[in-house]
Amino acid sequence: MNFESKLSEVSKRIKSSIIRELLKVANNPGMISFGGGVPDPDTFPRNKLAEISKEILENEHRFVLQYGTTEGDVELKKGYINLLKKYDGIDWVKDENMVITVGSQQALYLVGMTLLDKNSYCGVSRPIYLGAASAFSQRAPKFINIPLTKDGLDLEYLERELEKLYEIGEIDKFKFVYAISNFHNPGGVTMNLEKRKKLVELAEKYDFLIVEDDPYGALRFEGNKVPSIYSLAPNRTILLNTFSKVLAPGLRLGVIIGDEFLIRKITMTKQAADLCSPSLTQRLAARYIQRYDLYDEIAPTIKLYGEKKDTMMKAIEENLGDIKDIDWTRPEGGLFTWITLPKGIDTMEMFEMAKMEKVLYIPGEAFYVDEPDRNTMRISFCLPSHEEIHEGMRRLRRVIDKYAKEKGIEI
Ligand SMILES: Cc1ncc(COP(=O)(O)O)c(C=O)c1O
Repeated sequence: MNFESKLSEVSKRIKSSIIRELLKVANNPGMISFGGGVPDPDTFPRNKLAEISKEILENEHRFVLQYGTTEGDVELKKGYINLLKKYDGIDWVKDENMVITVGSQQALYLVGMTLLDKNSYCGVSRPIYLGAASAFSQRAPKFINIPLTKDGLDLEYLERELEKLYEIGEIDKFKFVYAISNFHNPGGVTMNLEKRKKLVELAEKYDFLIVEDDPYGALRFEGNKVPSIYSLAPNRTILLNTFSKVLAPGLRLGVIIGDEFLIRKITMTKQAADLCSPSLTQRLAARYIQRYDLYDEIAPTIKLYGEKKDTMMKAIEENLGDIKDIDWTRPEGGLFTWITLPKGIDTMEMFEMAKMEKVLYIPGEAFYVDEPDRNTMRISFCLPSHEEIHEGMRRLRRVIDKYAKEKGIEI
């Protein structure tokens, strides 16, 4: 049978994630991987979670083993509302402004399904988080690719594009700007307050929504916290958050916060997808954040990542710092830095050499929905040890030298 002929247009377009393909070799002996973007499993509070799991299975089995509401566990929502008050000074969020999702990845998918049509426009960073690109692409919208600079999106570029849409009478089809406000994946950069305010101004002027994705905000090692875009414009911002980086990604729990009408619509989309998020992990997270101070608990993890970031910055400087035109971002939190190598270096092509030299990174071309900048790569510093970070960078330098020599590129 010709299965291909039975596929939907969307399904025909979908490709398997190149990250998954590339990282199949990550566990080979002796390999040092800067590829994986996952938290360090040793940081998961497994004993505390084991204890609570036992308690809720014994005492709350009528809830935790049963279907729940699509909106999500009220206990978890209550706990999250408290966190927003305590840590962000946000005191207006009610149950109706919130839906619990299966990770932020589902939130991105639901937002795309609820807001985008084939002829819609949405503004995204260039480079873009791969998962957002795949989620939004399900609706085949037209992407406005906004360059990412050291302090967030290039809003002058965005404004010029919005003005063009206005002039051709298409501005009402521009639905939202997708922004990772803190410690961008893959870029490592944070949007400054001035830009957050300017983005809100543009959203008001051209009447669009902002989708603020903030999985890493709590993982700040240095610098001052910047108010969320949501706190500046709660009426036009949909805030996505997740327990993946502050508790454990295996729980698969995210949260969408926004205007009541939009949350109701997103909840209806979710109902069609999965009826409800898992009752068991929702109650587990709810009891965990009731019993423990989430942010006190992750303080050691933040310290650990911060120290590894410092080691990574030092290792890049020492090993790659003299390469012509090299540039890398200096994250104040999160898991990633983004390296731009001299023009002419194709990091996807170079990947084979890197594998032989036993060092892995993610070629930048994975993070574009238009013609990629092929001389870029994403580097994660949270999993390798300090020694592996130094050794991995030494290996990467050997790879770059060898590749550049073979291609006749001066570096
Ligand atoms: C920017 C961004 N958004 C969303 C997600 C999805 O996270 P999860 O589905 O685990 O909540 C990730 C995961 O790495 C991410 O980096």
